Amino acid sequence: MAPTVPPVFARTSHRMMRHEPPGELVLPNAGSDVVRVRRASESDLDALMAIEEASFASDRMRRRQYQRHLQSDTARVLVASAGQGQVLGSAVLFLRRGSELARLYSLATLPAARGQGVAGHLLQAAEHAGVLAGARRLRLEVRSDNPVAIHLYQQHGYRRIGHCPAYYADGCDAWRYESSLF
Ligand SMILES: CC(C)(COP(=O)(O)OP(=O)(O)OC[C@H]1O[C@@H](n2cnc3c(N)ncnc32)[C@H](O)[C@@H]1OP(=O)(O)O)[C@@H](O)C(=O)NCCC(=O)NCCS
Repeated sequence: MAPTVPPVFARTSHRMMRHEPPGELVLPNAGSDVVRVRRASESDLDALMAIEEASFASDRMRRRQYQRHLQSDTARVLVASAGQGQVLGSAVLFLRRGSELARLYSLATLPAARGQGVAGHLLQAAEHAGVLAGARRLRLEVRSDNPVAIHLYQQHGYRRIGHCPAYYADGCDAWRYESSLF
């Protein structure tokens, strides 16, 4: 499924910690397929880069940054797949040692796979990973001009807690959202 539709965007920032087994979280999908979310490995780098390029016009994460996050104790890179196992979406969660706050840095679905619940499953899996790491709250920033992502977060119970003027490189504002993980 080649990514053909160009960028909408939004991005989130920051970090946290700890280890859980790299297991797989299997969740029912609205469609006939099952969406599987698992921790990413080096073999997912090409797919991660493809999602990145198809989803973000600026502030893209580079391959080397992904490699670093894959090896980090304080990051969780998650990928969602369905059917034959093709990676359809990704999420990056940052953890901070000794903090109850986790940060969702990135969430994206390949354009051709959007609107099927992939991001919703990734968000749930990121929350689960945060809980396993000891987090009690999940925070994120989203571009104020990204209604799809804002809708997704609000639908999942995230509350708007702040406004960050000119947060992004192109001057776009961010809304800060947070949700309790309990
Ligand atoms: C935002 C994004 C991650 C959503 O991914 P997704 O897999 O399509 O999301 P889901 O299928 O889980 O849908 C989430 C909600 O948004 C709705 N939605 C999805 N695409 C939509 C569209 N193009 N227009 C309007 N609503 C849309 C879905 O219908 C769903 O709401 P519903 O349950 O009330 O129907 C995806 O559009 C994307 O990757 N965008 C580019 C990167 C980005 O902006 N990331 C956000 C980072 S903060």
